[in-house]
This record gives sequence, structure tokens and C-alpha cells, in this order.
Amino acid sequence: MAESAARRVAEREHEQGGRMKAELGGVVVLDFGGQYTQLIARRIREQQVFSAILPCNTPMEEIQKLEPAGIVLSGGPSSVYDADAPKCDPQVLELGIPVLGICYGMQWVAHTLGGRVEKAERREYGRAHLRVDCQGGPDSSELFAGVPEALRIWNSHGDHVRGLPIGFRATGHTANAIASVEDPKRRIYATQFHVEVKHTEHGTELLRNFLFRVCKAEPKWSGAAFIEETTQAIRAKVGNKWAICGLSGGVDSTVAAVLVHRAMGNRLTNIFVNTGLLRKNEFEQTLEMLRERLKLHVIGVDASDRFLVLLKGVTDPEEKRRRIGREFIAVFAEEAQKLQGGEAHGEIGYLVQGTLYPDVIESVSVKGPSATIKTHHNVGGLPAQMPFALIEPLRDLFKDEVRRIGKDLGLPPEILVKHPFPGPGLAVRLLGEVTHTHLVILQDADAIVVEEIRRAGLYEKVWQAFAVLLPVRSVGVMGDGRTYGLTVAVRVVESDDAMTADWVKLPEEVLERISTRIVNEVRGVTRVVYDISSKPPSTIEWE
Ligand code: XMP
Repeated sequence: MAESAARRVAEREHEQGGRMKAELGGVVVLDFGGQYTQLIARRIREQQVFSAILPCNTPMEEIQKLEPAGIVLSGGPSSVYDADAPKCDPQVLELGIPVLGICYGMQWVAHTLGGRVEKAERREYGRAHLRVDCQGGPDSSELFAGVPEALRIWNSHGDHVRGLPIGFRATGHTANAIASVEDPKRRIYATQFHVEVKHTEHGTELLRNFLFRVCKAEPKWSGAAFIEETTQAIRAKVGNKWAICGLSGGVDSTVAAVLVHRAMGNRLTNIFVNTGLLRKNEFEQTLEMLRERLKLHVIGVDASDRFLVLLKGVTDPEEKRRRIGREFIAVFAEEAQKLQGGEAHGEIGYLVQGTLYPDVIESVSVKGPSATIKTHHNVGGLPAQMPFALIEPLRDLFKDEVRRIGKDLGLPPEILVKHPFPGPGLAVRLLGEVTHTHLVILQDADAIVVEEIRRAGLYEKVWQAFAVLLPVRSVGVMGDGRTYGLTVAVRVVESDDAMTADWVKLPEEVLERISTRIVNEVRGVTRVVYDISSKPPSTIEWE
């Protein structure tokens, strides 16, 4: 797993290479494992500057190839004195490219350039007050230009910088620590606090100052630019080869398919596999919509029996994911072979997937596989040996960004608002062994949840709403007789990007209708419970 994850990280760098170069003025975020890294990348894109996250130990040549306008060094949970402290190549600070170090990024800069980093007597977590107290005031610094002298900021650190490297000056302090430093000659800036979080006052201005005053980046990144640059990069990458796309009818893979279709035309064939793990009636309905509404060339493959056989006796969630991931690839390979002997007039060298940034970050970790949360099957769960190279055009984006791109591509609203659905489907919403009987129960219960959420006008307001089937039997009473049936958990969450989520406080009458309908209409279920866990510490899916 670790090996294939590393391989994919390497592949990803190459993919980004083409795109970033075309996307002049992009910023690279080097990730030290911080919880806000993805937020930094997103805040930069909100300023219409392209940004891509790379692991901190990405080789220097790879970074240089991207010709970034700036480099941001993220925060991270380590101390620079830890034996396994994450590091960048120190040459990052000598490329002449502007650098912004944030939190651990600032400590790493100071430590690497000969400054002193110490364990703080008083750790700083949460809100603090910053005084921009450098000589000449805020306007004497490119980073602080135009912001007030006193700011409320957001901190999260145990170590802090006590001695500055030669050439640096402190630009701001909290009551407890040096809060920001800079060496304008070398265009290196750093903040101990998190400019990327909303709780930092004027954080956006600080980021804008870095992007536009220091890096001289141009605000060129937009949905239209992304579509144009990405289609160009895909054309350059695939040459005259053909590709297949694993299409599920969800937002991500549909946006990916439409985007790649723009780049390759009918050299792209979409394959929609019925794993038998889809929602009720989803295969037929989605197939029709993709073909009739979107005019995509889609082959529908009913492989439901195969998947069921393969999952027989398997209860471990990660093993389910691995088997499903492998089987998907086997089906794709078979279909590719058929195409190769028929309508494809060139080599099918690529598999297109709608992988998003949150799938990547939870499956591949800079701290090693121990910190992996789940191997989302289209990232960490793919077999190491694959007959295809991957095209993942949405790999750096968040769902809301993908929805905006989908809108720009002219996708119908019903696709854009569709709730996310995991690649391994109902297999990870059905705890324990996957059997045909349990699948039908779960599909029926799930259809009721979604129907009632729609009826209450909540479908587009929540992130996901679904049923989970628990292998827990409990006693019920129906028509004066004793029943002993299964339990359905209802999960409805709100979220911006699936990285964090909260359970939705559904109106009582909606809960009541869902519960009554499930126990009455779904044979084999005696009890319905509502999941009131947030993420973290729980995850959205149960497995
Ligand atoms: P978790 O359960 O990790 O889910 O909080 C976060 C988001 O990802 C979806 N998810 C998956 N998507 N393959 C996927 O393609 C998977 O294995 C997988 N597991 C979870 C989940 O539905 C939620 O939107």
C-alpha cells in the first residue's frame, strides 16, 4: 500500500507539472503534515491563483520544473527537533522564489537558516493578539502593508522562534512570542500564526499581499481557465492513445468524464459498472441520464454477481475496499481489451478517475501509512500493478470547486447536487458480510431516507443522507407477534468538503416519517437509530 501510494504521489507530481507550467503564476504548497494545508491551497485558489500541494520532501528538480511564482511551507504537528521531523530540501530557500512559512513552516525556516527555535514555556493554542511592531509599521513590510497594527490571530504551536537568522527582522509579536519574521531581500516571509484560518483577522489580506505584492502572481485561475488548461494538459499527456473512464454517475467522475471528453473526443469510452452495490435502481437510471442527457458514450457492465462472490465471507472494511478496487480494475481491463479488438483504433493507455483532494489526503499521508484513515478505493485501494496510467484531472480540488467546474461545463443541476457516494458503495454501509438479502434491505431503507429528505426540501441543503445496515438484531413487536430483526442507522451530515462534518439536527417529523416507513416497509428491520456523531472523531461512512 505504502509503495503504491508513493508511486501515485510521484505520478501526481508529473501530472501537475504539465498543468502548473501552463498555469503560469501558480503557487506550490509544501506539506509538512499540517491539518490546515488543504485550506491554504484553497484560500490561494479563492484568490484565483492556482495552487497545488506537494509532500515537503518533493525533490527540488520537481518543484523547479513547475516554475512556481511562490512557495508556501505549511504547518505541521512536529517539532524541528524531533528525530523524524519532516524537512524540505534547504535549497528551497535559495531558489530566489518567494517563500511564506506558516507555523512549523516558520520554525523550519528559522532553524534551517541558523536561527533559534525553542520549546515555549506557554504554548499558544487558539486566539492571540498580534502587534505589528517593526520599525516603519505595517506598511514597511510587503506582507503587512495595509493592515492594522493590532490584529486578532489564530495560533496552534508548542515551539517558537527565539533567535532570528542573519538578515531577518521580526515584524510582529504576541505577548508570548515572535509572531512573524521576514528577510525582504531574499523574499522570505514567515508567520507563527495561521493566516489561512478565518479566525485570523485580515488573514486574507496577508495572503493576498504575499501572492500579489511579493510573488507578483496574477489572478488568472478560474473555472474557465482550469477547463482550458486541463484539457490542453490532457491532450499533451495522452498523445494519440485512447482512454477509458470509470464512470459512476456521481459529480466527480461525471465532471472528469466530460472534461476528458472535451480533450479527447470519442477516443474516450466511459465504463459504468453495476457492482450490485449501488443505490436502488441507480444503475438503470444513471445509465439513461449519462447517455440521453449528457450524450456520453457509456458501456454499462453488469458485474453484480462477480462482486458478490468476491465479497463472500469478508467483513474487514479495508479488505472489502481492496477486493472491490481490484475487481473494478479487472472489469475495466476486460472492457478495454474488448474495445481494443473493436472500436478503439489505438492503444488504450489511460484510466480516467474523478479522484478529489480529500480522497487523496485521507488515503496518502506524508507521515506514512500509519496515519492513513481509509484507503478510498480510487486512491490507495488500487492494485500496485495496473495496465493503465491514471488521469485524475480533479485531484487537487475540493467538491465545491468541482461542482463549480461542472456548472461551467454545463452539467445539469441534478448531477451537480447529487450526494457523494463511496466507490465501494453499499459494501461499506453494510457492516459485516455483504449478502444479497442484506443489500436489498439496505437499498430499500436507503431509498426511503433519500425520498423523505427530498420531500422535506433538505436534499440540497445537506452533504449526505443515507442508511447503514447494522448486523445487530433486536426484538420488536408487530401485529401482536414478536419480531427479531436488524437495525438501520440513519446518517445525515452537513459538511463543506467531507474533511469535517456535523450531524444534521433533522426536524422531529422527518425523523419520525423515516423511522415509521422503514420499519413498516422494509421487511427484516425492527429498529431505526439516528447517528449523532460528528467527524472527527467519527467518519462520515461507518466503514
Ligand atoms: P469518510 O467516511 O472518510 O468519508 O468520512 C468522506 C467522504 O468520502 C466518501 N468516501 C469514499 N469515497 N471511496 C470513495 O470514492 C471510498 O472508499 C470512500 N469512503 C468514503 C464518503 O462518502 C464521504 O463523502
